[in-house]
Amino acid sequence: MAMTESPKSGNPVAEGEVTAMFDSIAPDYDRMNSLMTLGRDAGWRRAAVEATGLRTGDAAVDVASGTGKLAALLAERVGPFGRVEAVDLSQGMLTRAEREYRDLVQLHFRVANALDLPFGDGEFDAATIAFGLRNLADYEAGFREMARVVRPGGAVVCLELSLPRWRPYARVYHAVFRRLAPVAGAIVARRRSAYRYLPESLAAFPSAEQLAATMEAAGLIEVRFRRLTTGVVALHMGRVPPR
Ligand SMILES: C[S@@+](CC[C@H](N)C(=O)[O-])C[C@H]1O[C@@H](n2cnc3c(N)ncnc32)[C@H](O)[C@@H]1O
Repeated sequence: MAMTESPKSGNPVAEGEVTAMFDSIAPDYDRMNSLMTLGRDAGWRRAAVEATGLRTGDAAVDVASGTGKLAALLAERVGPFGRVEAVDLSQGMLTRAEREYRDLVQLHFRVANALDLPFGDGEFDAATIAFGLRNLADYEAGFREMARVVRPGGAVVCLELSLPRWRPYARVYHAVFRRLAPVAGAIVARRRSAYRYLPESLAAFPSAEQLAATMEAAGLIEVRFRRLTTGVVALHMGRVPPR
């Protein structure tokens, strides 16, 4: 997969290529995720749900929902009288999600682009994106679109891989990640090139501070973030201002 110089404002890899890659790894995605995060991903997603402040009966949209793990947690949080819409460009990922969570009547999956959500202005109490922003062609546009569909006062939450702040540690972490991810992909999923894309897309991604500034540039207020698990993941939260 060809990577060009990134201006850190968006993913330089074409949308069609990204979607085809996720379609191809969909059968192995959940297993690989647990392996590569040593099972920490479940706790990170729970922290993201907590950051939304959602209550029973609320409505939420989960963008780039993949196999639906975060969307399912949101659905449990809002309960059967709430509503969760989960969107993704990869039909392969969504097919697995639909199969896994068919019992959650308040949860609906559909193919849609994060940069052009098929929802009206202010339709939701919160919008989330987990490990999806890094894939978008324009990060700020992604946040603007999430903010558009959330009501004033509602939350926009982003969970994403990050690089630890202490530079020597960040360099070692990235070097190890760069070598291990494709090998793990080759062993578990026989998808070495797809898992090479993962550390490459991380190297091109903005720091937690830069990401917070991007959220503010997208019009969000009260933006803050927390580093999780020594800073290998960052949880960002912002609010939609009064219109
Ligand atoms: C690393 S997965 C994350 C999935 C899930 N949110 C999770 O926490 O495991 C990234 C997902 O983003 C989706 N994606 C990439 N670009 C997208 C876009 N422009 N619009 C919607 N989904 C997109 C991919 O298809 C993939 O399912």
